[in-house]
Amino acid sequence: MFINQIKAPKSLMVLIGYMGSGKSTVGLQLSKILNFGFVDLDQYISEKEGIPVSEIFNKKGEIYFRKKESLYLKEVLLLEKTVIALGGGTPCYANNMDLISQNEHVTSVYLKASIQLLSNRLKMEQMHRPLISHIKDPEAFVEFVGKHLFERSHFYNQADFTISIDGKETEEIVSDIERQLF
Ligand code: S3P
Repeated sequence: MFINQIKAPKSLMVLIGYMGSGKSTVGLQLSKILNFGFVDLDQYISEKEGIPVSEIFNKKGEIYFRKKESLYLKEVLLLEKTVIALGGGTPCYANNMDLISQNEHVTSVYLKASIQLLSNRLKMEQMHRPLISHIKDPEAFVEFVGKHLFERSHFYNQADFTISIDGKETEEIVSDIERQLF
């Protein structure tokens, strides 16, 4: 094999996907394997702002959050050798997905999950998630996730790779990503 045919990961791996798709868990694992740093964008925002993301939503509102999210995304996209787990909404606001897909240092991966899997996972941690914490009725909850995912898919589908995660453990998802990279 010629040397220029050997594929190597670019210096930034960006994980995108709906809430509950495991971006942070998978991202941390992947960073260890690649020997990259790891940044969870929500965590980064909350450290910079000095309050948890849920409180930013409650106290300052979603528009404020989205502005900060876009600002801090630009900061983390300047890092090197880093896996970045985005928030579920990050690719869908401002020109964030363009910044990701037009950046030649970035490989983006969409962790794709079914509505059922996401709903089941999210129901258990609904209270910590400002966008879904108000939906009490179980059917309305699944319906919300389905519609919301559909609206967002346009952005998620712009990722370089899509990995289906239903029925897979973290290790298998990380191996699937590795297979795409090497
Ligand atoms: C959001 C997802 C959250 C967080 C915020 C908004 C969204 O991140 O950024 O609550 O719009 O989907 P996770 O996907 O990490 O839960």
